[in-house]
Amino acid sequence: MDYNLVIKPMAEEHLVAVAAIEKNSFQEPWSLDSFQAEIETNRLAIYLVACLEKKVIGYIGAWIIINEVHITTLAVHSERRRQGVASRLIGALMEITGPRGASCLTLEVRPSNSSAISFYEKCGFQVLGCRKHYYVDEDALIMTKTNLTLPERVNKGEHHEE
Ligand SMILES: CC(C)(COP(=O)(O)OP(=O)(O)OC[C@H]1O[C@@H](n2cnc3c(N)ncnc32)[C@H](O)[C@@H]1OP(=O)(O)O)[C@@H](O)C(=O)NCCC(=O)NCCS
Repeated sequence: MDYNLVIKPMAEEHLVAVAAIEKNSFQEPWSLDSFQAEIETNRLAIYLVACLEKKVIGYIGAWIIINEVHITTLAVHSERRRQGVASRLIGALMEITGPRGASCLTLEVRPSNSSAISFYEKCGFQVLGCRKHYYVDEDALIMTKTNLTLPERVNKGEHHEE
């Protein structure tokens, strides 16, 4: 893992890079405008980016709904995967939401997205159920994590918020 990774709130200057990673990562990508609306107008939302030498290489988004943190998106640049970036992002999200009273993390994932499912299982998420017809062409698995301890590798790096 690269310890020069900086995690910070997503801002307008990051949106072009975020939208490019999004487009390369998902079948039904969010537009740049969707991210902009989230960071500018959604008071329930927390969006973070992971930057290496000021370049965005990953991001995570979530809505805090009472004590539940609902992860809306998570992606890492295809050339930067398996280097602990998503682990750092999810760890940072827990560091921020834990003190605000979060007691569980939840998300939807495609059953065909085996790499994401493996990632979430490694982070301690479990499949809780299924949401029918959630995607245009597929149901969604609902995965939840109730033990909000950080993955071990997250504790090794520094978390910067600017
Ligand atoms: C899922 C995703 C965010 C993981 O990001 P990442 O930065 O590569 O994840 P990490 O490096 O922190 O992985 C931590 C652990 O998760 C598991 N994992 C991650 N990617 C995996 C893969 N492709 N296959 C199997 N296990 C995987 C491994 O256990 C890994 O630890 P290891 O590398 O020591 O074996 C990334 O693959 C991605 O952006 N995918 C496309 C977008 C997406 O599907 N997002 C999720 C939507 S629900």
